[in-house]
Amino acid sequence: MAQSGTSGLEGVIVADTALSEVDGERGRLIIAGQDVEVLAGRNSFEELAVRLWAAVPGVTSAEALRLSLGAQRVWAFDQIPTLGRALLATDGMDALRGALAQLPAEGNAWDLGVRLTAATAVFTAAWWRLHQAREPLRPDPALGHAEDLIRTLRGEPGARRAGGLETYLVTVSDHGMNASTFTARVIASTGSDAVSAVVGAIGALKGPLHGGAPGPVLDMLDAVARPEAASDWLERELLAGKRIMGMGHRIYRTRDPRAAVLEKAVERLEKEGLRTPRLELARAVEHAAEDVLRRRHPDRPLRANVEFYTAVLLDALGLPREAFSPLFACGRVVGWLAHVDEQRRTGRLIRPESRYVGERPPAGAKA
Ligand code: COA
Repeated sequence: MAQSGTSGLEGVIVADTALSEVDGERGRLIIAGQDVEVLAGRNSFEELAVRLWAAVPGVTSAEALRLSLGAQRVWAFDQIPTLGRALLATDGMDALRGALAQLPAEGNAWDLGVRLTAATAVFTAAWWRLHQAREPLRPDPALGHAEDLIRTLRGEPGARRAGGLETYLVTVSDHGMNASTFTARVIASTGSDAVSAVVGAIGALKGPLHGGAPGPVLDMLDAVARPEAASDWLERELLAGKRIMGMGHRIYRTRDPRAAVLEKAVERLEKEGLRTPRLELARAVEHAAEDVLRRRHPDRPLRANVEFYTAVLLDALGLPREAFSPLFACGRVVGWLAHVDEQRRTGRLIRPESRYVGERPPAGAKA
């Protein structure tokens, strides 16, 4: 049956994929054959990327990828002087879009994938340093990708916090046919290149209904400030016609399983002695938001999504809220690239239809 143009494409299957499955009824996420709860915390970012890129010609081992990513981070850093004003953009996603768009698009899928993954991390860190009027830090090719990313962002050794960031990057690496992945696949389906697909995906990820939510989640926690104030504050937001950031999901009718993975990662940091100042408040706000939203939408479960605990985890890792969306891109880029490769192998153009509801010329106008 033809879908209405206002449907947002719910329930429309646009691809067969071996990359990830989102089961919204059971609240289960499988990435490259494994549950997200099993992958996160046990797999390095490189191991996860190799799993997702298993079908990409040229894929080797996680160790080989680690070395290649290190070399490509240094290469990307050396490109910074050629990027004009791109990394001086106020918004980190604008900076990523402008900087990545300038990378050469030639090369095989593996080389381009490594280059784009490395450059996304390097440009994220460089943008944040420049944003604070500091010099970008040169990548260290000997470090793992997550550790080097947190080191170059924060400007101090990253070993203590690398595990938490790695859990985050693995958790958000792929998620079915989300809006940015769909964007990347549409671009790839035209025969265009991986740089264009990733740049397009960044544009889609930027929006607050997709990857732009975690910064505003932290703003919300700051505005609520005290657990007792949560219900009233949330009610006021809804009365003003606003949405509660970090709550609700197109597919999940349960709590997003990634929220639990990231919440546990924050607990782990706490056990390791890192301060996690907003965890208790976040839990109180989550429960209050569930209650308030249940009363308003008794038939539609609106529960915490990945962005809710992304905000709490990245904040506990000492990362700035302005960099949350670019960091999402640093993890999701490996999923986009896997989808670009998968889509390309189908050889099919994605080209849906629209229903014309505009005016029609009067009868006989062409005569
Ligand atoms: N706060 C308040 N109301 C919400 C809501 C939220 N976070 N999420 C959904 N709703 C309401 C809608 O207003 C709508 O109400 P209505 O039927 O009275 O108009 C109803 O629930 C259904 O919402 P709909 O827009 O059809 O859901 P969707 O599948 O298109 O939306 C999201 C999914 C993620 C876009 C949506 O839940 C949202 O905007 N969440 C906040 C932003 C966010 O956290 N984004 C990150 C996603 S991972």
